[in-house]
Amino acid sequence: MNNTFLKLGRSLGKCFQSRRAGLIGLSGGGAVLALALISCGTLTHPIMAPPTIPGATFVGSKACADCHETLVRDFKTADHSRLMAKGKNAENAGCESCHGPGSLHVSSGGGTHTIINPRKDPETCFQCHLEIRAKFSLPYRHAVLEGRIGCGDCHNPHKGSIFKGGGATNLMGKNETCFQCHTAQRGPFVFEHEAMREGCVTCHDPHGSVNQKLLVARNQMLCYRCHFQQQNAPTRSPKTLYHGLDDHAPDVPQGTCWSGGCHEAIHGSQVNSHLRY
Ligand code: HEC
Ligand code: HEC
Ligand code: HEC
Ligand code: HEC
Ligand code: HEC
Ligand code: HEC
Ligand code: HEC
Repeated sequence: MNNTFLKLGRSLGKCFQSRRAGLIGLSGGGAVLALALISCGTLTHPIMAPPTIPGATFVGSKACADCHETLVRDFKTADHSRLMAKGKNAENAGCESCHGPGSLHVSSGGGTHTIINPRKDPETCFQCHLEIRAKFSLPYRHAVLEGRIGCGDCHNPHKGSIFKGGGATNLMGKNETCFQCHTAQRGPFVFEHEAMREGCVTCHDPHGSVNQKLLVARNQMLCYRCHFQQQNAPTRSPKTLYHGLDDHAPDVPQGTCWSGGCHEAIHGSQVNSHLRY
């Protein structure tokens, strides 16, 4: 990867970020997206800084249809196809924004090593999603950079919602993505933890985290996001810390809410209504 590409990727990443922050008040993903593209496109860079393949040039998505007909047809419904702005500057914005310039691939009839497959090379996604790359470099992460899992295991690049299972409007659908590989958390449980209905991502960052088990917080703060706590005045003794009807003051210093002997069955339990085991 050369420096120009990196630089472009970085400023694009920033561009998307600042746009997103600036436009957060607007509703309707489509409108926001279109604005982001126009504004970024009018900066000094072309809209895309696509990956390079030595010797290859861009041919446009239509050229892919000869051999990948279904993919090209369905791509119209894909979230990323909304990125396909019109005009000369945007010719690279279709299939080739992720797969790189396709001329050699096309002329060789689909020869090996003539096109980028993001499953093997997720760098191609990071040209536009730089902040995600940082997540996958954290100590606890899904092994995407190591090549054991692909973005495509959880995301649909080619068709419909980019989120497998339907995305934000369908939280349980999003959990289905995780159940492909993590069957133990699926249940059904006799004693369900209602937090699961909010989606796995309320407690786990799917990309990576500084905390073990990809947790979004490392101690009881994870649980306090939803569970009300009531503490007595610090001068009174003994101190109490009420969660519901139980005083937890003696427990909290002993570890996390989910470690040894406490709420170990955090995803749901077959035997204990307090999710102890
Ligand atoms: C002349 C036919 C043809 C055209 C045109 C064509 N491909 Fe392919 N492509 C193939 C064949 C054959 C394969 C290998 C078998 C397979 O995976 O379907 C392939 C494989 C691929 C792969 C997987 C490569 C890998 O290493 O895993 C990608 C990605 C791909 N094509 C993208 C594209 C894109 C993007 C375009 C348009 C720029 C395109 N193809 C145009 C025939 C073609
Ligand atoms: C947002 C990025 C992105 C765009 C745009 C994109 N793809 Fe892909 N493509 C991927 C990813 C990711 C994979 C690997 C999927 C996986 O991990 O199973 C892939 C894999 C492929 C493959 C290999 C076979 C397969 O299905 O896994 C082909 C062929 C392909 N893409 C063709 C296309 C064509 C044709 C287009 C345009 C209509 C296109 N792609 C647009 C990201 C993209
Ligand atoms: C050419 C630039 C570009 C490439 C390459 C690209 N994306 Fe995107 N992607 C965008 C833009 C722009 C958006 C919409 C704005 C945003 O939310 O960042 C987006 C949105 C997304 C979203 C939804 C974000 C949200 O908040 O709803 C996901 C998930 C995503 N992309 C995954 C991928 C994956 C996986 C790949 C590689 C296979 C990829 N993208 C490649 C530009 C790109
Ligand atoms: C283990 C599953 C999984 C893998 C692998 C994965 N993602 Fe995601 N990704 C998700 C989920 C789930 C969300 C939704 C997060 C949310 O709603 O808070 C998401 C959200 C996103 C977003 C939206 C912004 C954000 O930070 O939430 C982008 C962009 C994105 N992913 C890109 C990628 C790219 C690029 C890759 C591969 C390099 C990738 N993802 C691999 C599950 C995954
Ligand atoms: C394609 C398969 C796959 C998908 C899909 C997947 N994971 Fe994973 N996950 C793994 C693998 C493999 C590991 C590493 C397990 C290990 O090291 O033993 C892992 C590890 C984890 C861990 C840490 C486990 C530990 O013991 O440290 C958590 C938490 C996790 N995944 C949550 C999720 C969530 C949440 C989703 C959905 C957004 C998801 N996973 C989707 C395969 C997957
Ligand atoms: C209420 C917060 C919460 C929710 C929601 C949640 N988890 Fe967890 N998860 C945890 C905690 C806490 C741990 C650490 C347990 C431990 O270390 O014993 C964990 C651990 C894991 C592990 C590692 C294996 C293990 O049991 O230690 C996997 C895999 C996992 N979760 C997957 C998921 C999936 C998939 C979902 C969604 C279906 C999900 N989690 C929803 C809190 C949650
Ligand atoms: C997304 C919100 C959410 C998060 C985060 C969350 N919970 Fe819950 N939890 C609930 C809801 C809702 C219920 C059911 C109503 C109730 O009993 O308060 C519940 C019920 C429980 C119960 C069973 C009820 C009881 O009285 O024993 C336990 C135990 C529990 N949660 C522990 C935890 C622990 C430990 C964590 C942190 C790892 C956690 N929860 C994180 C929402 C959440």
